[in-house]
Formats: sequence, C-alpha cells, structure tokens
Amino acid sequence: MADFRLLFEPFSNGKLNLRNRIVMAPMTRYASADGIPTKEVADYYRRRAEGEVGLVITEGVGIDRRSASRDPSVPNFFGRRALENWRKVVAAVHSCGAEIAPQLWHVGASPPKDPDWDEPVRESPSGIFGEGIERGQAMDEAAIAGTIEAYASAAEETKRMGCGAVELHGAHGYLIDQFFWEVTNRRNDPYGGSSIAERSRFAVETVKAIRSRVGENFPIIFRLSQWKIPDYAAKNAQTPQELEQWLAPLADAGVDIFHCSQRRFWEPEFEGSPLNLAGWAKKVTGCPTITVGSVGLSEAFLDPDARPEIATAPLDDLLARLEREEFDLVAIGRALISDPQWARKVKAGQTNLLIPYNAADLQRLY
Ligand code: FNR
Repeated sequence: MADFRLLFEPFSNGKLNLRNRIVMAPMTRYASADGIPTKEVADYYRRRAEGEVGLVITEGVGIDRRSASRDPSVPNFFGRRALENWRKVVAAVHSCGAEIAPQLWHVGASPPKDPDWDEPVRESPSGIFGEGIERGQAMDEAAIAGTIEAYASAAEETKRMGCGAVELHGAHGYLIDQFFWEVTNRRNDPYGGSSIAERSRFAVETVKAIRSRVGENFPIIFRLSQWKIPDYAAKNAQTPQELEQWLAPLADAGVDIFHCSQRRFWEPEFEGSPLNLAGWAKKVTGCPTITVGSVGLSEAFLDPDARPEIATAPLDDLLARLEREEFDLVAIGRALISDPQWARKVKAGQTNLLIPYNAADLQRLY
C-alpha cells in the first residue's frame, strides 16, 4: 500500500492556507434551477468538505447572463438570489474546515442547450471555428470590455463572500481557451496573432482586471488545458518555450496557482521529459500548481493487488512527483462524485472502503 501521508500535509503559498493537498475538481452538476444553487447543492459541497477535502473548487459558475447559458441549471454567480445561496454554500464548506474557490466560467461559442435562454449566447472570440464547433458571433471590443468587467466583478464578489480563492476557467475549449487556441482565434486585431503570447492577451487583461479588484493578497487560480472538448489531441503550446510564453505573462498579471487539466496525470507533456503539464507549468512560472486526471479511479487503487500493471505504478508515481515538488496539489474529480468521503478514507488508510466511481452517480446529487 502506498504511503499517502504526503497528500495530507498542509499547503500555504502565503495567501491560500489549506489543511491538505486534496482539491475537489470543478464539476458541472446541472442542479441549480434557474441558476440558483439550492440547499441540495450546499449539502453536496458540505459532504465533500466533511470528507476532508482541503479545497473545494465549485462547478463552473456563470459570470453574467450570456456566459453560462449552455444550460439554465448551471449556477449563476450574479444576481441577488444566486449570490445569497452561494453565501450558504461557502458557510457550509467553511464549517467543515475546507476552503472554497468558485470557478468563473464563460462558455463562449459552445452551443446552448436551451434555445429560450437569453439569446444571443454564442459569443466567440473570432466567429471563425474549426470543423465541428458551432459558429458564434465574434466579440467586438465593447463585448470584450464588458466580459472582462463581468469576470472582475464576479471575482470581487468571491472575495466579498469570504471565499479562499477564485478560479478562472481557462481550459477545455471555452471562451478564454477559444482565444488561446489558434484554430478558434483567427482575429487580426490585438487579441489575435500567430503566437500564443499574442492570443493570451484577453486572459492577461482579465487576470489584471481581477487582480486590481481583489487586491494583492487574494489568491487567483487559473485552470488551463492543452486538450479541448472538440479535440483531445490539441495543444496550445507545442514546446516548453511556448508554454512559458503562454503562462509567464499570466503569472506576471497576477495568477498565483496554475491548475493544469490533463485526463491522465501521469502522461508526459512534452517529449524527452517525464514532467506532466503541472510539472512543466511550475517549472516555467515558479508558481505552485495543481495536477488532475484519473487519480483515484483505478481498480488498483481500491485493491492494489488486483491489477498492479495498470495503476499501482501511476499512484506511486503521483506520490513520487509530489515528493519531488513537481506540483503542489492534487485534484480529484469523478472519484468524489461517488464517494464524498474519499479523502477521509484515504487518510485513514481505509482504501478498501472506497466506493468506486460509477457514472450513474452523475444522475443524482449526493
Ligand atoms: C468535469 N470537468 C470540469 N472541468 C472544469 O474545469 N469545469 C467544469 O465545470 C467541469 N465539469 C465537469 C463535470 C463532470 C461531470 C466531469 C466528470 C468533469 C473536468 C474535471 O474538473 C476533471 O478535470 C476531470 O473529471 C478529470 O478528473 P478525474 O475525474 O479523472 O479525477
């Protein structure tokens, strides 16, 4: 059995203080009718905090009426009623000793699920998209300024509410990532360009606006990915040098922690080095990073003798990487859907009691 103690050492970067290294990954649950998080939503997050997660990152939350309009059951982070109920979620999580960071989300040109929901919704950075991505309405400068303002005021609200941090969703092919990616960003104004540094301008301006509103000491986490929902093989950065050109300006603008989304944490990011995306992001920025991707999903995690050839090695590998400080925090997604007590059980060495992830559990909010 691997020694999981490293996962339970406290974390601090001077701004964010966590009781351990385990982060609940952001997961959309479609349970907030009309964008208002319910008591069930508060209980759902409370259970994971009771289960000894260190930091809860919420599901993506809409920053304004145009942003999360893919589905009206995605929670808003604006409007009196939604914010009032978010305050209850924050109190519930804090009462169990965990910290919370709302994930600010703008879907950009993703197709909406509900055609009645406040059209026009498909704002894109460019209006020009790759095959299979729905065409959107290009953002003009006024729309860009308005969207940056919506991010900044939502971030300010997270601070006012007493959250431990705010996370910006810059991953997976949504709005911010649509600017990063050369396939979707075909702008020929200062928000586009042939280099990732040029295409990062929108994100950099957004981070700067947030930083100026929340002050120096409030932690900003930035979630990024190479993969996109329409293209798992995509890469914004082909080389470590491009990764640095992409992330260093974001760190300069005020990002404190990079949350590096991979589908499998053990996959090397660039040829010639075993470092994963979180490892590289830390190396090129010097900032703490969060890794994620299939931690705790394997059968071998539940029974180390069952299929050691598949997953025992990656879990040992996770701990070895943590020990080498290649990254600082470990996010858990699906395993926490099925077992809210995941962290507590791992800490107590009760991995034999873990409830395995079952996709059917996505249908209920437990
Ligand atoms: C996700 N993921 C995700 N990511 C994100 O940045 N914002 C989000 O709102 C969501 N929503 C979401 C919903 C559901 C149902 C799943 C399963 C996933 C991705 C998630 O945060 C995480 O990166 C992946 O699930 C990989 O981690 P695991 O599940 O392998 O531990």
